[in-house]
Amino acid sequence: MKRMLLLLTFLISVHLQANVEKGKAVYAANCAICHTVNGGRALGPDFNIVSYTRRKAEIAQYAKDPYSMYKKFGYSANAMPTLPLEDSEFKDVADYISSLQPFKKWMIKKKN
Ligand code: HEC
Repeated sequence: MKRMLLLLTFLISVHLQANVEKGKAVYAANCAICHTVNGGRALGPDFNIVSYTRRKAEIAQYAKDPYSMYKKFGYSANAMPTLPLEDSEFKDVADYISSLQPFKKWMIKKKN
């Protein structure tokens, strides 16, 4: 039983890793012209900050349909375009964004 659980945990983490890798490619091809990773604000907010402040499901929803989300996220206008990607690509890019950690580590360091 323990072995089965270990195997399952391993398979899930490998699967998630694959999504993160795919999401990184989606980011590079579709988001990087407007969003940085750990690089300060560009046209849209930096994704390290987004990974700290937003949940994965919200990120996927924003990426898919920014117009339906901008008010909820506190913006008074929506300049981000709706991108013609597959649902799986929005999920993968949200996995990638949520996996970004340095900003959290920096926040934790600051507290000490
Ligand atoms: C043409 C520029 C542009 C592109 C391309 C773009 N964005 Fe954005 N994004 C913005 C801007 C500007 C905002 C600020 C709010 C708005 O205008 O809707 C934003 C906001 C966001 C937010 C909300 C951030 C927050 O926490 O407040 C998320 C999440 C997001 N973008 C994800 C993505 C993803 C994922 C991609 C690629 C698949 C992408 N964006 C591509 C310009 C862009």
